[in-house]
This record gives sequence, C-alpha cells and structure tokens, in this order.
Amino acid sequence: MARKFFVGGNWKCNGTLDEVKKIVSILNEAEVPPEDVVEVVVSPPFVFLPLVKSLLRSDFSVAAQNCWVRRGGAFTGEISAEMLINSNIPWVIVGHSERRLLLNESNEFVGDKVAYALLQGLKVIACVGETLEQRESGSTMNVVAAQTKAIADRVSHWENVVLAYEPVWAIGTGKVATPAQAQEVHSELRKWLHDNVGPEVAASVRIIYGGSVNGANCEEQAAQPDVDGFLVGGASLKPEFIDIIKSATVKKK
Ligand code: PGA
Repeated sequence: MARKFFVGGNWKCNGTLDEVKKIVSILNEAEVPPEDVVEVVVSPPFVFLPLVKSLLRSDFSVAAQNCWVRRGGAFTGEISAEMLINSNIPWVIVGHSERRLLLNESNEFVGDKVAYALLQGLKVIACVGETLEQRESGSTMNVVAAQTKAIADRVSHWENVVLAYEPVWAIGTGKVATPAQAQEVHSELRKWLHDNVGPEVAASVRIIYGGSVNGANCEEQAAQPDVDGFLVGGASLKPEFIDIIKSATVKKK
C-alpha cells in the first residue's frame, strides 16, 4: 500500500498575528504537488488556530500542538480533544519531546492522550525519539520501542495515526540525522510495528522524520524508503517550507 507523503509544520510557541497571516499567505500562494501526492498540515499555537484554519487554502489542514488527556473540565490552561473536534480542527500533535522533557509527559500519559484523541475523532501525529545520551549509550531503539508500545497498548486502530520519529538531539539544533540514521530507525520501527501490532499497520502507517529538516536536506531524507514525510519546526516558519513540501515528488521518481 502506498503511503501518502506527509509534511507537518510545527510552529511551536512562535508568531504574532501579522507574522501568522504572512506565513499563511505564502502557503496560499505556493505551487505544490497535488493532494494525492502530499498531505500538508500546519500547527499554529492554539490562539491562532481558528484564524489560520479560516484563511488557509482548502488543500492544507491544521493541527493543534497538544490536547488534554481526557474529557475536559476543571483543568485550567488545557484544551480538550472535544473542543478541537467542536472547532473542526482535524489533527493534533501528541508527545512532542518538548512536552515529554520540559513538562514531564510520560510514555503512559502520551499513550493515554493518543488513545483519547483518536476516540474523539482526531487524527494524531504521535512523536517519539531518543535523547543524545540515549543514542550514545546504544538504547535508541529500546527508547523508541517503549514510547511506541505505550501507544500500541492503548490503540487498536492506526488509520488516523502518523508516527513522527524526532531524535531530540536533532530538534532545533541544526544537527539533522543523516539519511542513513533516519532510515535505520524508521525501518526498525516499522519492523517493531510488524512484530507487535501487525503487518498491515506496519505497511500502512506513515513514519515521518523530524529534527532540523530544511530546504537543503529534505530531498535526500525523502528519498529514504521508510521516510514518509516530515515534521518541520524552524523551517516551517520560512518560505523554504514550500521546498520541503515539494520534496514529496522524490517518491514519484
Ligand atoms: P526543528 O523542529 O525542525 O526546528 O528541528 C522539529 C520539531 O520539533 O518538530
């Protein structure tokens, strides 16, 4: 089964109203491959989500950067999955390393969030990835497998899940994983899914790479057989995001 290339733009905690409108107009004017070649999802901060959704071209979609783990209620500062659905926000990013590390989100908590968001009808970009220390001690695959297992233990349908492999040492550092390093983890992760979830899920789930992806390195990464797209931080705020979207055509060559 062909996996449609997926490019996510994670704007993180950045932008003013004017900047956000400018990014959207650049996206709206861009010529990119058609929807059957690439799926594009941008993730602005919560306060800009409805505006971006209303201004953005209809072939691109939007994602929240987080949501609460269960039904909403007395959880000051949180946004629930129900609210996202109610606002027609189709996607959510869950388990980004910045939240795992800075806000102590555990594998189990992330797994619970993924399961709850899916149950409400959201599509989920679920992030996994090792720290530099973990890579250097040789535990990359154990870490990524444990993060994925916490999701797999709670989820039985994977159609609405995109897995983002984002090595923590590559995020925002300019130190992109080599295409071989990305391919190695992606193929190991697919094998893990094959053995622990099932062959259909392994063959169909998109595994995207994140960590210092930019206009210059995206084509080489996109050419890796198990790299099904990208989650882009810094470069998603710049015009080169368009080049990253266009790298989807590498798969057609
Ligand atoms: P980066 O961030 O592209 O700025 O490294 C990626 C991410 O955190 O999703």
